[in-house]
Amino acid sequence: MKKIITFGTFDVFHAGHVKILERAKSLGDYLIVGVSSDELNFSKKQRYPIYSQADRLHIVESLRCVDTVFVEESLELKAQYIKMFNADVLVMGDDWKGKFDHFSDICDVHYFERTPSISTTEIIEVVRSSVFEK
Ligand code: CTP
Repeated sequence: MKKIITFGTFDVFHAGHVKILERAKSLGDYLIVGVSSDELNFSKKQRYPIYSQADRLHIVESLRCVDTVFVEESLELKAQYIKMFNADVLVMGDDWKGKFDHFSDICDVHYFERTPSISTTEIIEVVRSSVFEK
């Protein structure tokens, strides 16, 4: 059985998220998704996600293409997670292109093109500006 692993925040879940997860699953038989913790997001962006960690896990876990979810507590633990789940392929969006090539000694590394014109940050900005316009 070929196992695929990928990581992300998946806050304010959108079509770009589902598309990368579906493409990831198409590379193998079993898809494992590391959903970053609220604290990890705070340390990266100095703000908490809009959706709680529990809700983000719940949404991702409910997708037909996803087999297992877990909480990604630290960016430095990626190699451990890959080994722990015995993953054959690491999938990342091409916003990370080249940044994870060093994992090719423990698994294949595959970057998918991001879906154009959508991101969580953009959705938050659109909603925020429409609230302030009123
Ligand atoms: N992703 C994608 N296409 C998009 C947005 C995200 O393929 N338009 C992918 C990312 O490359 C990543 C995964 O979805 O592999 C999770 O991305 P995440 O950072 O949670 O979503 P973003 O919308 O990029 O969030 P932000 O705007 O906060 O960076």
